[in-house]
Amino acid sequence: MASQKQNDSSAAGYQPLFKSFATDAIHVGSEPEQWNSRAVVPPISLSTTFKQHGPGKHAGFEYSRCGNPTRSCLERAIAALDGAQYCLALSSGMAATLTITHLLKAGDGILCMNDVYGGTNEYFSKIAAEFGLGVSFADLTKLALLKAALKPNTKMLWIETPTNPTLKVVDIKGCADIVHEHNKDIIVVVDNTFMSSYFQRPLALGADICMYSATKYMNGHSDVVMGLISLSRDDLNERLKFLQSALGAVPSPFDCYMCHRGLKTLHVRMKQHFKNAMAAAQFLEADPRVDGVIFQGLPSHPQHELTKRQCTGCSGMISFYIKGKLEHASTFLRSLKLFTLADSLGGVESLAEHPVSMTHVSVPENEKKELGISDTLIRLSVGLEDEENIIADLDQALRAAVIYCFLCLCLMVMHDFFWSNKG
Ligand SMILES: Cc1ncc(COP(=O)(O)O)c(C=O)c1O
Repeated sequence: MASQKQNDSSAAGYQPLFKSFATDAIHVGSEPEQWNSRAVVPPISLSTTFKQHGPGKHAGFEYSRCGNPTRSCLERAIAALDGAQYCLALSSGMAATLTITHLLKAGDGILCMNDVYGGTNEYFSKIAAEFGLGVSFADLTKLALLKAALKPNTKMLWIETPTNPTLKVVDIKGCADIVHEHNKDIIVVVDNTFMSSYFQRPLALGADICMYSATKYMNGHSDVVMGLISLSRDDLNERLKFLQSALGAVPSPFDCYMCHRGLKTLHVRMKQHFKNAMAAAQFLEADPRVDGVIFQGLPSHPQHELTKRQCTGCSGMISFYIKGKLEHASTFLRSLKLFTLADSLGGVESLAEHPVSMTHVSVPENEKKELGISDTLIRLSVGLEDEENIIADLDQALRAAVIYCFLCLCLMVMHDFFWSNKG
């Protein structure tokens, strides 16, 4: 009951926080007893190879691509935070995606949420499809469409929730139940990048694999590119472990150390991301210079209730439509002072980006239109700065966009007036 009281998220009707999360984040994988030195912080083990007692007889590590002590510390910590048996760290989120996709063979099909990270869309449709995988996309927010979208060759369901950048929420349990009832062998994968382990546990909701671009919240400091896969199925783990080593897209020991260090404050960071994002979303929603705000923490979000049913809270991701045209969006983005105009998300610093010309530039025009990725859509990754500074920056950039566009309009009218009178 005491922990329930401290739990801000569950007080607002979200799922209760995962038990012992903070303790596990700080201690699992960092046990001093595993080292002769009793180091409290796991050492960065740079050695690429490890001495064997006798031919083929080793103490757990042979060659660093196949296994490394620093990587293993991180993997154990992530598995604990995801309520998983296993975790595998990869060199990027895309490396995790491609390693998971190698579970399939030519002729197999992937059914993917239609609104996913641009790179995932591009990999499935332009690369995996060329290797003989059947790839199709569907709006998985509509469970009624899911069954019809499954094909006889469907072997993998790829969910991203909330989606990037329009923050649609997919019912993970609903999808996993339908798909596994149809065919228990279909592998349900959830890209959990936007939520982190702190706010969503896909495996507990029926997914077979949970993956991350750890480049985002899991590391959280915009200084590591990494991917993570967590799971509890022995058969899939055995194959993925083989693929991790055979494909070789593994992270460096230094990056593993950095990500493990970042993970130890995940619970503290995520709580504050949620708080700051909520304040920013409420400010934007009430502002007449804004046409619409998408944040699943707001009651106005169409899947707000579903979010509360499957998550312990929301991260710092907000998308909104600025009133006006492309010029308003670009002036707003150029005028930001605290937010940095940059790709990526999930770091301590606030970032802003323009999906149509940045992260989602590779998505075909008709699909962007269908998904609502328009010229006026702006995506924010709300960081951990002071709430009043975040809001003041959004306010001044909105003002700058209105003033600049108004001045442009005045100049155009004066220009037309001048030339029509001259004639
Ligand atoms: C939701 C999501 N999944 C996967 C990726 C790919 O991750 P990475 O850039 O670490 O390869 C990204 C990158 O932005 C992402 O936003």
